[in-house]
Amino acid sequence: MSKRIQHFLSLKDLSSDDLIKIISRAIELKKDKFKEGYEPLKNKTLALVFDKSSTRTRVSFEVAMTHFGGNTLFLSPRDTQLGRGEPIEDTAKVISSMVDLIVIRTHEHSEIELFAKNSSVPVINGLTEKFHPCQLLADMMTYIENKGSISGKKVCWIGDINNMCNSYINASKKFGFELSVSCPKDIIEKKKPVDEIDYYENPIDAAKKADLIVTDVWTSMGDENSSSHDKKFSNYQVNNSITMHANKDYVFMHCLPAHIGEEVSQEVFESNHSVVWQEAENRLHAQKALIEFLMKKE
Ligand code: CP
Ligand code: NVA
Repeated sequence: MSKRIQHFLSLKDLSSDDLIKIISRAIELKKDKFKEGYEPLKNKTLALVFDKSSTRTRVSFEVAMTHFGGNTLFLSPRDTQLGRGEPIEDTAKVISSMVDLIVIRTHEHSEIELFAKNSSVPVINGLTEKFHPCQLLADMMTYIENKGSISGKKVCWIGDINNMCNSYINASKKFGFELSVSCPKDIIEKKKPVDEIDYYENPIDAAKKADLIVTDVWTSMGDENSSSHDKKFSNYQVNNSITMHANKDYVFMHCLPAHIGEEVSQEVFESNHSVVWQEAENRLHAQKALIEFLMKKE
């Protein structure tokens, strides 16, 4: 492919300035949710190639395209020849020759990289086992809406070293916040984080003076076979005994779906500190701004 296409496979694909611009635009789009006559993606099609379940990612991208006057195609492995072994390279060439933008949710990150390499249109990561960058756009937007700039703040991640944790590691560099990570020691040894981290075995130490506490499920999609994975995390539930060490006005986030009583207590999940519903809704606004940004680059 001769033309440089702007993909969004991880936060590393965009500069800090561009990420901040996207979030500011998302906040603007949220105010004017459904501007009449504004149809920047009229006659454009977004394909959603999803190999894993999704509520938020699918709905937010589909609604984003409706707001922008465009169309979507939802393709599960049962619908396409990908599910019957057609190579990723060939599938990418064919789908991208007909649509304008592609969101992929899959297992291995190398699969989305291969798809993007063979695509003639921008590819967005809708979640891989390694990263979930769209969720971070919504999380950063939600923090900024509630508390202003996140630069210089302390974020505490308690939980598995998974796609969300790795995306927070990338975000700490892009948005300039301090990140502390806490999980069982053998998890950190088994699942290598994508970059160096400030690691604490004791979640209380990690949560001290945190402005934002984030967690996620102990078992991610595709990770179900890690035997006794959940038991290892029993001391890592985000509950009041941990959050009492955070800053008084800390914010709690979770990308959802949540397993209340496992990674987070009901008390914290339903507390005034929790912004999980705003965070979920912001997927729509943040991705509208992302789509606009990527399509403008085209
Ligand atoms: N947070 C998130 O990506 O949710 P879904 O799996 O429902 O898309
Ligand atoms: N870490 C979770 C996130 C779900 C949105 C998973 O990959 O299943």
